[in-house]
Amino acid sequence: MSTVIKGGTIVTADLTYKADVKIEGGKIVEIGANLSGTETLDATGCYVMPGGIDPHVHLEMPFMGTYSSDDFESGTRAGLAGGTTMVVDFCLPGPEQSLLEALQMWDNKTSRANADYSFHMAITGWNERVFNEMETIVKDKGINTFKHFMAYKGALMVNDDEMFASFQRCAELGALPLVHAENGDVVASMTAKLLAEGNNGPEAHAYSRPPEVEGEATNRAIMLADMAGVPLYVVHTSCEQAHEAIRRARQKGMRVYGEPLIQHLTLDESEYFDKDWDHAARRVMSPPFRSKQHQDSLWAGLQSGSLSVVATDHCAFTTDQKRFGIGNFAKIPNGTGGLEDRLPMLWTHGVNTGRLTINEFVAVTSTNIAKILNVYPKKGAILVGADADIVVWDPKRSKTISAKSQQSSIDYNVFEGKDVTGLPRYTLTRGEVAIEESTVKTKEGHGQFVKRQPFQAVNKALSTWKELVAPRKVERSGIPATGV
Ligand code: URP
Ligand code: ZN
Ligand code: ZN
Ligand code: ZN
Repeated sequence: MSTVIKGGTIVTADLTYKADVKIEGGKIVEIGANLSGTETLDATGCYVMPGGIDPHVHLEMPFMGTYSSDDFESGTRAGLAGGTTMVVDFCLPGPEQSLLEALQMWDNKTSRANADYSFHMAITGWNERVFNEMETIVKDKGINTFKHFMAYKGALMVNDDEMFASFQRCAELGALPLVHAENGDVVASMTAKLLAEGNNGPEAHAYSRPPEVEGEATNRAIMLADMAGVPLYVVHTSCEQAHEAIRRARQKGMRVYGEPLIQHLTLDESEYFDKDWDHAARRVMSPPFRSKQHQDSLWAGLQSGSLSVVATDHCAFTTDQKRFGIGNFAKIPNGTGGLEDRLPMLWTHGVNTGRLTINEFVAVTSTNIAKILNVYPKKGAILVGADADIVVWDPKRSKTISAKSQQSSIDYNVFEGKDVTGLPRYTLTRGEVAIEESTVKTKEGHGQFVKRQPFQAVNKALSTWKELVAPRKVERSGIPATGV
């Protein structure tokens, strides 16, 4: 059995050219002119691109007294419908829980995944067992990224001493630390003040987490990572203050990656002032949506390369779940969806407006992510030997986004009513057609765990430099005698 994608234009992060792609056994086996196979997919008028990789999703996540509604089945189905062929979820150990035990629990959720997935491991506390288990996670379990929440005080948050210890451990193990960068102490204090003043609606969620809260934490995490001699990945970068810190660090030569979300790029804070409580609460997430100036900064970051990737932080709660927070915005489960909409929205607002080239689109939705997470070129590439995770992208197909026709299990969509032009004609996961225009052909259980090896190049470079500039005792002769 072989499949040939015929008549399309291949678009990668650095090349655009006409060629057919032949697939066998889930992998790309040939790229060239006039290829033939048992099955042919017509790509005339389309771009043939590496499938999207979403580096930041929360499927069936236990959070704020409930679970996010999309699981690995509906979440990966939503991703495939929008051209995303791999997701990376976060394993969140409970307080005092073993990392390995938590990983087993996360693994148990994945049996119905329709597309490939991987995990980041969260560090939610610090002790000797965590220190030891991090090695097993990296060396045996195929996870090379560790997430640190600087917010959610009293729940997932870690303090600077814990974070610094974990960053140093990441440096030793060839792992990459990730941070949710918001100053959790300041958020807690502002939240209490707002509530005491009677400001209990969803708009107060945004007031409780201004851009400074994010800028300060981003800068702090960058400095800690620099002192630990480790690269850093900042999730959901939403504002100029955080972007500025990342930009400055990168200009100084630090290896820092920023991840804006499609929501922050295209939706703004005015959503929280909607008179309809449900409308505003459905958009409550951390960090919150920002003003147009912040959006401009994020777009400029993608254009100039100071920001590296675009994710969704897909963490979908139903309207009923959001209503846990009526009368107290701090109880509204934080999170929004976007898995199905990331590529079409970014194409429409990025490529169709001239802000991004088609190659930059591939870089920020797939290839950069694969490289940063160390799964390139198995994923994120149209190359012989790569997994055939491919989206055949029709730049002329359009639709109006609506919850009525979405794959996600929730009852609304934060992009409701938005027109998009640029949609998948086909999405293939390891060579199998999962989406053919509006027809869903996903197969439950097809998705496999993708192991990610420890980092070699960047961590080696940083540890070499760290060793060069390490503190060294000055050997002195003629030291004055102490005392008399
Ligand atoms: O509001 C958000 N972002 N919810 C998901 C958890 C997180 O902080 O990433
Ligand atoms: Zn977060
Ligand atoms: Zn998240
Ligand atoms: Zn299969």
